[in-house]
Amino acid sequence: MGAFINKLSTSVRKRLGIGHSLNELDPDLVARELFFCAPALTPELIAAVKLISPQFRLRGDEPSRRFWELNQNGVCWGEYLALEPFLKALPEPSQVLDLGPGLGRSAIFFKKIMGWREVPFHLYEGAGESTKYTKAGPRFDDSFCGTPEALETLLRHNEIESYRLFDAGEMGGEISGLPGPYDFIYSFFAIGFHWSIVHFLDDLLDLMHDRSIGAFTLHDRFTDLDALSHVPHRVVEMRRSWPRGKTSRLLVLGKTEEALSG
Ligand SMILES: C[S@@+](CC[C@H](N)C(=O)[O-])C[C@H]1O[C@@H](n2cnc3c(N)ncnc32)[C@H](O)[C@@H]1O
Repeated sequence: MGAFINKLSTSVRKRLGIGHSLNELDPDLVARELFFCAPALTPELIAAVKLISPQFRLRGDEPSRRFWELNQNGVCWGEYLALEPFLKALPEPSQVLDLGPGLGRSAIFFKKIMGWREVPFHLYEGAGESTKYTKAGPRFDDSFCGTPEALETLLRHNEIESYRLFDAGEMGGEISGLPGPYDFIYSFFAIGFHWSIVHFLDDLLDLMHDRSIGAFTLHDRFTDLDALSHVPHRVVEMRRSWPRGKTSRLLVLGKTEEALSG
């Protein structure tokens, strides 16, 4: 019976309201080295996860913790493998910007896998009490749904020290006040995914120099690549760890072609 339940698909599990199974995850991505480590899922942490990932049904038990940890690590691997050629060509950055870090999985992962522990990461996040996600929609200034205390708990748990948290709420949702330029800017499942990249483009380019790169998850509904025709860019495919078999597109952009060709 247990083996049968484990094999149920993601959609059937959701319909029956039962928890997640590791079988829902991409087996190759979750078998890779673990860089993102999750602590026990307290009620506060579950609430913080729910705000940024309402699609998950997590409980305060070890199977849920392990599912979340492996999925977070797996999605980071999917992004990393897609971006590897660009990242390998990038000199060690002097500063990196994560727009909408959520619970910090990408900052933790990049710092560990790239050997960037000492590189200052600027994390731009705002506290919020509800999720107001759109799909490739317009920009608005109260879209934030982060939990800064939980983000810092995750960073501490992973022994990440060199970072600075910027309060998006205090900054009125603007990014132009951030102390750029940044060598590497990214926003995963945030700018580009929920809110179309087009609305942020000028601000993002102002935070970059000629050799910087930016990477953004694109929503399947994003079709406006023409709006990016004046900016050097590539679109690469990444494998998602959940649900297994699904892919997403990542937009990689620079101010110059040289930035993208290493
Ligand atoms: C789906 S979560 C993704 C979190 C994290 N990047 C990840 O992939 O796990 C979306 C994040 O975008 C943040 N966000 C909301 N509005 C934003 C904006 N205007 N600019 C950047 N991030 C934003 C939210 O607060 C939330 O942390």
